[in-house]
Amino acid sequence: MADRKKKRAARLHTADRELVEAALEAREHAHAPYSHFAVGAALRATGGTVFRGCNVENASYGATVCAERNAVAAAVVAGHREFDLLAIATRTSPPSPPCGLCRQVLSEFSPALKILLVNPEGEVIRARLDKLLPMSFTAEHM
Ligand code: THU
Repeated sequence: MADRKKKRAARLHTADRELVEAALEAREHAHAPYSHFAVGAALRATGGTVFRGCNVENASYGATVCAERNAVAAAVVAGHREFDLLAIATRTSPPSPPCGLCRQVLSEFSPALKILLVNPEGEVIRARLDKLLPMSFTAEHM
């Protein structure tokens, strides 16, 4: 089983594998003393620049920010608003999908974003934001 998982990860293109590594590394920086559920994200802007995020929890639980939204914020403050790939790292098997809030925030910038859900064991699940968030609410609906 472990070999099969590793083979799946090996099938990624080099740049995509680097993005997965960045998400796994970002996960190591998670501040998750309440849930003990560390999440890492690596968001690649069109052009190739990678922005990392991890979940940052707070004693006032509602102030917690997810890894994916922290990655989006890091990208936007650096002047990037178009993305082509996001890797999300969790410890779960299968690797976990992004929450609804993060889907909505990602959709603001790249509604058809490609996503890789990964874990430290080398499992990789491919997803697409428009499949995870069909009929999303956009500026056109106001
Ligand atoms: N979390 C994320 O970072 N991303 C998600 O998409 C789902 C949930 C974090 C928030 C919280 O720190 C922990 O995982 C448990 O919900």
